[in-house]
Amino acid sequence: MTIKDTVRKYSQKLKFVTHIPAKEVEILIGYLLNKNNIWLHLNNNNEFTEEKELEKLVNKRATNYPLEYLIGKASFYGESFLVEEGVLIPRPETEFLVDNAIEILKNKENPVKVLEIGTGSGIISVMLAVLIKDIKIIAVDINEKALELAKKNAIKHKVEDKIEFRLSNLYENVHIDKEDKDIFMTISNPPYIKDSYNLPLNVKYEPSNALFGGVIGDELLKNIIEETANTKIEYLLCEMGYDQKSPLEKYFKAFDIKEYSFYKDYENFDRGFTVRFNIENKNKI
Ligand SMILES: C[S@@+](CC[C@H](N)C(=O)[O-])C[C@H]1O[C@@H](n2cnc3c(N)ncnc32)[C@H](O)[C@@H]1O
Repeated sequence: MTIKDTVRKYSQKLKFVTHIPAKEVEILIGYLLNKNNIWLHLNNNNEFTEEKELEKLVNKRATNYPLEYLIGKASFYGESFLVEEGVLIPRPETEFLVDNAIEILKNKENPVKVLEIGTGSGIISVMLAVLIKDIKIIAVDINEKALELAKKNAIKHKVEDKIEFRLSNLYENVHIDKEDKDIFMTISNPPYIKDSYNLPLNVKYEPSNALFGGVIGDELLKNIIEETANTKIEYLLCEMGYDQKSPLEKYFKAFDIKEYSFYKDYENFDRGFTVRFNIENKNKI
C-alpha cells in the first residue's frame, strides 16, 4: 500500500479522538520513517512497509493516548522538546508566561537569577536560558523523572550550563537566605485544576501531580504567592486556571504588592498574572 493510501486507511481509526486524523497519521508515519512532512508529501506514492508498527501506534492513539507521548516530542515556542509519559506535555498557552518574563528580563541588567517552580519538561527554563544571554536559573520540581527529562532538554538546546535542576517542594530546597538570595524572579506554571475535576480522556494519561492543585485548585498558587512574598524576590509570574482571577486578586490584598496584571490566553481565557512585590521596605536577609 502507498503512503497516501495508508494515511487514508488509518485516519478512519482516529477520527473520534482528534479533529486532524490524517495529519496525525502522517506524523506517526514520519516518526516511523524518520522523515519530515515535506518528504512525505513528495513521496506519498511510495510503498509503505511499516504497517504493523503503524497499526500498533494508531491503536494506542485511538485510546486517546497522547500523540506527543507516542512520538516522544512536542513543540513549544517554535522549538522541539523531548517528552515522555510521567511528565506533563507542554501547552501552547504557556508561551505567554515565557513572553511576559522576557519582557521584564530583557530590560534587566545582567546577570539575572530566576527560579522556576514546577519545571516539568523544562520548557520555560530552557526557553528563558535560550533567549536571555546572561541568566542563571534554578529549576525545581517534586518529580525526579521530570527533572531528568528537563536536563535532557537543556542539553538538547545547549543551555545546561545556565540551569541548575533541583528536587524541591516549592521553596523547600531553595536557600533564599543564603546562596540563592539574589533571585530576581520566580516563574511557575503550577498544578491548578481542582481535585474533583473530571479530566478529558487524553489528559488522564498525564501525571496527576502536574495537574491537580488542591480541593479548590488554587491552593498551590496561593502557597507560591505567600512564600514568594516572604522573600526579597521582586517578580512572580504564574499561569493559572481561567476562573481563578477573582479569588487570586482578592488574595493579593494580603501582601505588599507594588503592581500586578493578569493576562489572557489564545482563546481569550484569563490564564495568568505578573506580580511585582514592594521589596524596598524589606530588610536585607
Ligand atoms: C502544570 S506542570 C508544568 C510543567 C512545565 N513547567 C510546563 O509548563 O509544561 C506542574 C509541574 O509542577 C510540579 N509540581 C507539583 N507540585 C509541586 C511542588 N509542590 N513543588 C515543586 N513542583 C511541583 C509537577 O511535578 C509538574 O512538573
